[in-house]
Amino acid sequence: MNTPVRPLKVGSFTAPNNLWLAPMAGVTDGPFRALCLRGGAGVACAEMVSAHALHYANPRSLRMLRVDQREKPVSMQIFGSDEQTIAEAAQAAEARGADIVDINAGCPVKKINKAGAGCVLMKDPVHLGRLVAAAVKAVNVPVTLKTRIALKRGVLLGDEIARIAQEEGASAVVMHARAAEDVHSGPPDLQALAAVCARVKIPVIGNGGICNAQTAQVFFDAGCAGVMIGRAAVGNPFIFRDIAAQLEGRVPAPMDSRRRVEIYLALIEENIARYGEKIGVGRSKKTAGYWLRDFPNAAEVRGRFVRLETLADIKDLFAGLTF
Ligand SMILES: Cc1cc2nc3c(=O)[nH]c(=O)nc-3n(C[C@H](O)[C@H](O)[C@H](O)COP(=O)(O)O)c2cc1C
Repeated sequence: MNTPVRPLKVGSFTAPNNLWLAPMAGVTDGPFRALCLRGGAGVACAEMVSAHALHYANPRSLRMLRVDQREKPVSMQIFGSDEQTIAEAAQAAEARGADIVDINAGCPVKKINKAGAGCVLMKDPVHLGRLVAAAVKAVNVPVTLKTRIALKRGVLLGDEIARIAQEEGASAVVMHARAAEDVHSGPPDLQALAAVCARVKIPVIGNGGICNAQTAQVFFDAGCAGVMIGRAAVGNPFIFRDIAAQLEGRVPAPMDSRRRVEIYLALIEENIARYGEKIGVGRSKKTAGYWLRDFPNAAEVRGRFVRLETLADIKDLFAGLTF
């Protein structure tokens, strides 16, 4: 069977496969990354961390770089706007075990953009290239750039940015195939993505709306060496294994809502072990909509769940569910 699923070499690092977990702030913390790696992700990307905050040794930002062995391979993403802090942040990530350091040049969140970071970096590809060069010079691990095909729909910038990133030493680009103005909705622009893939020799990892083997295959057909899956992995961390199985002509293991709730409970327990009961439960609630779904009274259960504060109460609620 001719399958696009294969190990992916990114500079000096070879990932076991090319189906990766996308970085998601507030979601892809250590416990969730460990779960996705068990679910077949080749690399799990951590939440973006502010280079500026790392410069000032912000304890929360430093904690976000903490990884244990079960959370590797990990790509640690940094965001910032100047060469010095990006270089320092890349070093901090490398020192804490990053297999890859990724620079965020795609985030459309206002607060990040106001500080000159995220997608606004696309407005000045030469400056963005300097940031890439500064990180590449600062660390031994591969540096990647996560960006987008465009700021505004139809005004394509991704191929030129990818070319500059390659020239400045990036080992791969992660290309979200949506314009920044579309944030995370709408169909991916696969033609624009194909143009990026044709422009550079380094691997292009495509992203945007991948939720099954068919949608992954279209990205490979556009020329991507790998794909990154974001929201479809929340509530279904075994999606990587399932997509690989389907692309290899095997039958994926079914995921039903009972199994989803079991996995969610295990994740909540991991969150509590990592962050303590109060914060662990609080963090778990943010993604409840992805996990508690597809059973008859799911909305009502979610309403009860978000008011609970202890693991014992959550276990009681889940034990009484009917699917
Ligand atoms: C809640 C949330 C948080 C995100 N945080 C980040 C982030 O920290 N860094 C980043 O590069 N992209 C971030 N993204 C964008 C994703 O990495 C990804 O590009 C986007 O969700 C599209 O992929 P998908 O359609 O598979 O979800 C975030 C997306 C979501 C939904």
